Amino acid sequence: MALSSLKKLVTDYLAIDMGTANTIIAVKGRDVVVDEPSLVAISETKDEIVAVGLEAAEMRGREGRDIVVVAPLSAGVVADYEKTKHMLAYFVKKAKSGGSQVTREAVLSVLSDVTHVEQRAMLNAAEESGIGRVHMLEEGLAAAFGVGVDPDDKRASAVVDIGAASLNIAVVTKGAISHSRSERIGSDQINEAITLHIKRNLGLQIGTETAEEIKRNFVSAVVPDDLQDEMLVKGRDLQTGSPHAVTITAGEVYPIAEKIVRRIAEVIKDTLTELRPEVAADIYDRGIVLTGGGALLRDIDKYIREFIDLSVIIPDEPRYATVRGLLKMFDAPELLDRVSRNEPGILADSEISFET
Ligand SMILES: Nc1ncnc2c1ncn2[C@@H]1O[C@H](COP(=O)(O)OP(=O)(O)OP(=O)(O)O)[C@@H](O)[C@H]1O
Ligand SMILES: [Mg+2]
Repeated sequence: MALSSLKKLVTDYLAIDMGTANTIIAVKGRDVVVDEPSLVAISETKDEIVAVGLEAAEMRGREGRDIVVVAPLSAGVVADYEKTKHMLAYFVKKAKSGGSQVTREAVLSVLSDVTHVEQRAMLNAAEESGIGRVHMLEEGLAAAFGVGVDPDDKRASAVVDIGAASLNIAVVTKGAISHSRSERIGSDQINEAITLHIKRNLGLQIGTETAEEIKRNFVSAVVPDDLQDEMLVKGRDLQTGSPHAVTITAGEVYPIAEKIVRRIAEVIKDTLTELRPEVAADIYDRGIVLTGGGALLRDIDKYIREFIDLSVIIPDEPRYATVRGLLKMFDAPELLDRVSRNEPGILADSEISFET
């Protein structure tokens, strides 16, 4: 066979977790190859996209007068179709293997409660971004497979994904979602609450990067050991407009973050009261698994464990659970056939039969 026709046979199998905050792409045989912010930078005068992903993130907060940096997805769904398409095409191109004749097949995750219109927008964006064949899988199921839940297991497992803007709880039995709940609450709300607190109480405006740094390095979900621990925070003085810095203490930021963490824990607890007795018994034995970037908040597992009084496990690299679960689908084509939700109607029907 000639080399040129051999090349034609190359297929990239892509697993795509396009989140509100980050897009993660893994390729069969190569694991995670793209992990970048879901952002695009736009030149307003030229009305065109000038940067995507990491490059766009670097412009954020420091963009020139003409540039705006926007997130094309909001709460896990497509908010701006054209920008989503462009962004995805850019990431897909980045993920491609060497050689020019590569065909692509992809599995994309979607939230359980998206509408048909929202799912169609996601599917179209993927199809128009240079992917030959697109399958869609519910995020909760993907996360469960990603953390090692066996699709043939008769007993139930509960996986809770805490994203930037969404909380997704899935109870999985025999490779299908038997119960799920999504709420528009996520880890970014901690950033927003911290930003607001510093603005209102300390008169300082801070940027998104600064808020993220505070959350990652200074905030914990449980009462901090040293309440007096301090951090210097820089930004813009609200009164004078000048560059300025203030000191925050661990004791003052803890209750702000705790409010959000408590709401997340309440939704989890509430959802676990909706389970049928046998499923509840399985979860009692097994506890829950936390995935998503929100699981990286210091001691959030400890907080939730105390709140729901069940064991809480965080796997290695919880942000990659969903994409790794999607990737596993390429080794289990019959499973993919069974679980993919390319026909929204089918999903609705199967959900009804599981719920009763
Ligand atoms: N080390 C960390 N400590 C605390 N929070 C973190 C850390 N790393 C990431 N996060 C938070 O995790 C969130 C991003 O998580 P993830 O990448 O799972 O979101 P996403 O999938 O894009 O969002 P969604 O699932 O809501 O669409 C952000 O709010 C981010 O601040
Ligand atoms: Mg996510």
